[in-house]
Amino acid sequence: MKSKKHLPLAFYSAAVLILGACKPNAALAQTATVSTSVEEQMYRPNFHFTPKKGWMNDPNGMFYANGYYHLFYQYYPDGNKWGPMHWGHAISKDLIKWEEQPIAIYPDKDKYIFSGSAVVDTHNTSGLGTGKTAPIVAIYTLHDMTKEKEKKIDVEQQDIAYSNDNGFTWQKFEEGNPVVKNPGIRDFRDPKVSWDETHKQWIMVLAAQDRSQFYKSKNLKNWEYLSDFGKNIGAHGGVWECPDFFEIKVQGSKETKWVLIQSLNPGGANGGSGTQYFIGDFDGKTFTMDANFAKKVEQQKAVWIDYGKDNYAGVTWNNVPTADGRRLFIGWMSNWEYAQEVPTFTWRSATTIAREIQLTKKGNEYSLISNPVKEINKYVSKTIKGKTIKGKGNLSILETGKVDLTQAIVNFKLKNLKQDTYTFTLSNVVGESLTFGINNSDHYLFLDRSKAGKNDFSEKFASTITKAALDGNQKEGVFKVILDKTSIEIFYNNGEKVMTEIFFTNQPFTALSVSSNEGVELSNLVINQLKLN
Ligand code: FRU
Repeated sequence: MKSKKHLPLAFYSAAVLILGACKPNAALAQTATVSTSVEEQMYRPNFHFTPKKGWMNDPNGMFYANGYYHLFYQYYPDGNKWGPMHWGHAISKDLIKWEEQPIAIYPDKDKYIFSGSAVVDTHNTSGLGTGKTAPIVAIYTLHDMTKEKEKKIDVEQQDIAYSNDNGFTWQKFEEGNPVVKNPGIRDFRDPKVSWDETHKQWIMVLAAQDRSQFYKSKNLKNWEYLSDFGKNIGAHGGVWECPDFFEIKVQGSKETKWVLIQSLNPGGANGGSGTQYFIGDFDGKTFTMDANFAKKVEQQKAVWIDYGKDNYAGVTWNNVPTADGRRLFIGWMSNWEYAQEVPTFTWRSATTIAREIQLTKKGNEYSLISNPVKEINKYVSKTIKGKTIKGKGNLSILETGKVDLTQAIVNFKLKNLKQDTYTFTLSNVVGESLTFGINNSDHYLFLDRSKAGKNDFSEKFASTITKAALDGNQKEGVFKVILDKTSIEIFYNNGEKVMTEIFFTNQPFTALSVSSNEGVELSNLVINQLKLN
């Protein structure tokens, strides 16, 4: 079992058990029925996507067409742990409110539909269109469980399926699959395809164990190997998975750079699953890291898109209208370390909030920032602005009952920071709390969910405090914190550092306070109540 390090052996036996039967076993079904209403009320997110029932992992094949953002995802409808992978499907007009759709792509017996991408083939380069609308072509990994059980190497290959109704129904390209054969690499998966306008070619990036590989094509059916990147570069604590690759403008300039997003598991920023990125140039064949960025990667070991434990396998949308021009991203809000044990039973896992990714340049240093998509603001039902809070000890920011903290965005600025620790505490009536903040002596952001309710389902869930190093002494810090029933997403300094984590309290959080030894000065407090449910 040298691949899929994230999945312990037990996982495989469980998968095999579930495989045998198409329905969850009786005990599982019963648990689901008994706990449904409590878990619906307590744990079904207000505004993060979850399937109605069943298991979900990576987001797949996202594109925009005909007024809808489409989101597909790794899905096992008949159980609440990983199993025979389908592509589930949801659509949204605004990236916030999602409507689940019928399953898009089904596995054949023992041939699972793993992660991948989809592109709108506007000029019908694939010839798979029928003429009325542009065909949409999905490229995914077909994972052969029979070969896996036989311990073969060529378990994974890249296949395509297509849709001629804007992405609602799909046909496998039986006569032409695979479009990329297995070259003798056990972990060879998660193709992400996009149109490279600069070099006028389709580009595929896929994860090949310890590196990303690049391919090109004219028609999405015949692919030619170009190059690879990443062996001995960046983080390698686990298998590389779910890459993304795109050209993006530097904010406020015409200059463009190429970004390679590359998830890996385990070996993430704070343990388990994580997503790193690289910035550089692409000549149509080879990706070369920018020299300054390469230095940063060497010094820090890796640069991460999110330092929290729960943002994995995220990739970006295809075919976002040029007039819009945003690079839109969504991740799986969980971690293979415990995803299959979290205390929801009817469904398991949610996606992160959809985010806009931007490229900034300071001096000669490039970096990505990510922020929640602006569409979330449509759902603000009430805004509370607070006065500046100044003082020592534990200071209340928000008293119990003022705002429903299971759907809210809290914004504030910390000023005149000293060499001190600034701790924010979300708390509830049963004494549970989640803390986050800045340690400005040792220069890092932190998030601690060890007292935030249930965590005994996994030793890994709350055993360590999540940290993200900051570049030296902070004079001030700007926070945007998005809260749902079971998640917190912290965007620090306009998305320069992000932390996403889930939690399972026994009662909702109702109050927020801040404390430090030297004294706090907190301004620009704006609390936006969201109303989605
Ligand atoms: C990442 C991943 C992918 C794979 C999929 C299987 O979480 O392991 O590499 O395609 O999940 O569900």
